[in-house]
Amino acid sequence: MPTLERRLLKAAHMMRTAGNLTVFTGAGVSVESGIPPFRGSSGLWQKYDPQVLDLGYFHHNPLDSWRVIREIFYDFFGKAKPNAAHLALAKLEEMGLLRCIITQNIDNLHQEAGNTIIHEFHGNSQVLRCTQCEQHFPAGEIDLAVLPPKCLHCGALLKPDFIFFGEAIPMDAFHLSQEAARIADVFVIIGSTGEVMPANQIPVIAKQSGAKIIEINPEPSHYTHAITDVYLGGKAGEIMPRLMRKIENNLSSKN
Ligand code: APR
Repeated sequence: MPTLERRLLKAAHMMRTAGNLTVFTGAGVSVESGIPPFRGSSGLWQKYDPQVLDLGYFHHNPLDSWRVIREIFYDFFGKAKPNAAHLALAKLEEMGLLRCIITQNIDNLHQEAGNTIIHEFHGNSQVLRCTQCEQHFPAGEIDLAVLPPKCLHCGALLKPDFIFFGEAIPMDAFHLSQEAARIADVFVIIGSTGEVMPANQIPVIAKQSGAKIIEINPEPSHYTHAITDVYLGGKAGEIMPRLMRKIENNLSSKN
């Protein structure tokens, strides 16, 4: 296999010359912002019981679920800031090279970095939705000191607007992600194990529709030997800035 340096050069060239570059991110892109992944030895599911995010459990035990949800997603995640990988992706969009991001993450960090076209496959933690009247509220407007939080409009239980186990993928994000995958000619997967259905089908759709697949992950994933064309083994916060330098050098030498 060629050295990492050669593969970086190849990937940078593919991204710079792509007609339609799409990026797909998983928990790994936010690890260097201090947000642990879900799976693996340091994953969230080693410390917490995933049943607190089961829809049926949540409705029967809202206080119990909300105590854990507040700790993970608001006390802890809420303080995270975009890292070098998020910022590089925002720069790619600003340069006109990136068409869209499809993300499985609910942490809002792509938006905070400055990207504007983001399909959130699993929703977003920074919005709370009423389980009765469906009204949405920015998380910052709801006091989480008293749990479980109640709708300011009708008083019913509020739920984070990200999907729980047993809940359907938001239809808009699902269709827009499938469409983006179909029309991409270069598709970059960053920090995803590829274990979770149906999100893990999106890169497969891209591959089957003819896209070349670049993957950034310190560990091989389910994608690596199945669909990846160029594997960049390393952390997103290190690989993305290296790729950007090559893309920018290449552009300036062409001007
Ligand atoms: N840079 C890039 N990738 C990294 C880094 C890093 N610094 N650190 C870890 N990774 C990789 C891991 O090697 C792993 O392949 O990130 C991946 C994280 O895997 P998961 O935790 O399974 O995350 P993801 O694939 O996004 O999970 C999908 O599972 O529970 C659900 O809804 C949740 O969206 C989530 C979904």
